[in-house]
Amino acid sequence: MKDILRVLAAYYPELWPAGNIGDDIRLMRDAGINTVRMGEFAWADMEPSPGVFNLDFFSEVMVKLHDNGIDTVFCTPSATPPVWLSHNHPERLFMGTDGIRMMHGARQHFCNNNPFFRKRSRIVVGAIAKKISKLPGLVAWQIDNEMKSHVSECCCEECGRQWRQWLKNRYGSIKELNKLWGTSLWSQKYSSFSQVPVPLKTPFAHNPSLQTNYRIFSREKIAEFQDEQVEIIRKYSKAPITHNSNVRHYLNHAEHYRNLDFASFDAYYDSDNYSKMLMDYDIWRNLKNGRKFWVMETGPSHSGCIFGYPKLHKKSYLNAELTAAFALGAGGFGYWLWRQQRTGPEMPHGAIISSWGEPTIGFDDVKQAGGSLEKIAPLLTSSENVNAEIKITYSDIARAFFLTEPLEGIDYIDKMQELYKSVLETGFHRDLVPENADLKGCRLLLTPYLPHIADESLEKALSFVKDGGTWIVGPLSGCRTADHALYTESALHPELEKAAGVKTVFTFSPTNNDISGTAFGLAAPLSIWSSFFRTTTAKPLGTTNDSRLADLAFLTENKYGRGRIVMLGSMPSGDQGKLMLKKMIGHYAADLRISQKLDLPQGNLAVPRKNKDGIFWFVINMDGKGCSFKYGKSGHVKIEPYGFRIIK
Ligand code: GAL
Ligand code: ZN
Repeated sequence: MKDILRVLAAYYPELWPAGNIGDDIRLMRDAGINTVRMGEFAWADMEPSPGVFNLDFFSEVMVKLHDNGIDTVFCTPSATPPVWLSHNHPERLFMGTDGIRMMHGARQHFCNNNPFFRKRSRIVVGAIAKKISKLPGLVAWQIDNEMKSHVSECCCEECGRQWRQWLKNRYGSIKELNKLWGTSLWSQKYSSFSQVPVPLKTPFAHNPSLQTNYRIFSREKIAEFQDEQVEIIRKYSKAPITHNSNVRHYLNHAEHYRNLDFASFDAYYDSDNYSKMLMDYDIWRNLKNGRKFWVMETGPSHSGCIFGYPKLHKKSYLNAELTAAFALGAGGFGYWLWRQQRTGPEMPHGAIISSWGEPTIGFDDVKQAGGSLEKIAPLLTSSENVNAEIKITYSDIARAFFLTEPLEGIDYIDKMQELYKSVLETGFHRDLVPENADLKGCRLLLTPYLPHIADESLEKALSFVKDGGTWIVGPLSGCRTADHALYTESALHPELEKAAGVKTVFTFSPTNNDISGTAFGLAAPLSIWSSFFRTTTAKPLGTTNDSRLADLAFLTENKYGRGRIVMLGSMPSGDQGKLMLKKMIGHYAADLRISQKLDLPQGNLAVPRKNKDGIFWFVINMDGKGCSFKYGKSGHVKIEPYGFRIIK
């Protein structure tokens, strides 16, 4: 991929008269769009009947775009299989945990494990790859579109068959499965793999071991489906391949992107929720280390569909959203969509031009943001991101555990966004990294809300601590086995408790029980399912006001090797709780001499980057209030609402 920073728009020329293309190109150039993405929903146009391909239309559009300086990301269309694939064949369609089969229509209505669907996908992907790979202007491929966004696990007969095979590979014997899942409970004991059900509806909850495993199985299978397409494309094309997901989709992203060349994602937060977008940047930058990620889709002004529309962006917000993306490691920034849909459920969705072909309310902002990118492009392409000394573990497997067992209604992503916001407000530069990430350069690692800590992850974290790192573990981390059961030697992972110098004495939820914790000179109500520790070698840092917990701590610190393990057994809540968390992070950051921050007023982002002259900072106003602050010899720095400055 040439090192061109991309501003993209999702383009659906198949939905419009061919005569529109000239106007589209003129307006795209005016808006600063240098790349389009297309093809992802056009299977029925590309292969109107089995084996009859019609790709000339798309190739002509691509060539025309290229002649006008606009490149293309081409997609495989497997998210919307044509009706000839399912007509009279309901068994090929997706079946939810409620046992209901999907109808043909919308998107993702197929079972991705259905062998016939797989075969037809391979055929259409092969035909596309063969033809499109030769065309000028092809800069990347996208596999499918937002896999598992509308649906999660399919429970059809075929999936059941593959599930039982998967279980056989995982457990070897049914005896082992029975033991780890504790199937004597409620007479679930199986005498062969063929008896193990899929998580279709039961009168009360399924065994959590079954449910979580089924989620993991489904995530592996969809990655396998994608890899099949990747392999075919690579036979014909050298262009890099990606997939556009979103943190909320039912994938294990660390696995899902393993065979892809770069990461890209879609997100549609409104301007008030910019911290969530920043968290996404910090996640996706770290998924394919060393390769720029793309924001493949975001709204130019607002999202929306026939059911409703969220808030409109504040004027000029895109300028901050886009510059922050590139400063934090993006290589592309894409808008959904170019021309407002004339039909279908997404007619009210924000676009860059309207269905009648004129600039929308978002047009000028798109143009402004593109103009900013042009100015900073040389600086961006000659510099790189700085490895963060503070890292936070982020895990889709953790999310799968919470989907099975929400432990007080926990939505993993909401909780992580909340915690992230507190870290963001400390001002420190940070990375969100998958469980098994390389911890090189890290000094302070936070691992919250990770119900199962896998042995390899534990080993990695412990060796990081031995070398001098500080690891803050919890809340909830290490409280479940790999099979979503409880430990019996201790409450948390036995090796973790040992290394942390604690023994969990009680586990329960202090939420709404007038139980508060005191640490770092602050008191705050404690919340969520918690562990209260007796210390063996650790020192207690946080105690509570409850007489039953008099000798116990919710926060402890233990020396381990050259570093230390801090156990956070409970979550301090409310404003005081957030303050306590920030104080804790500030305390350890100061102790570890972490200096990756600028002292800025809240609402502003400082991103360190380095080039041959050393470190410099992008300072971006994210809250639209503008800001002014003192900095070094240059004195006073003033930033316009949603504007940015570069500081040496
Ligand atoms: C994405 C999807 C697009 C479009 C968009 C609307 O999730 O990939 O095709 O539906 O949402 O916001
Ligand atoms: Zn299925």
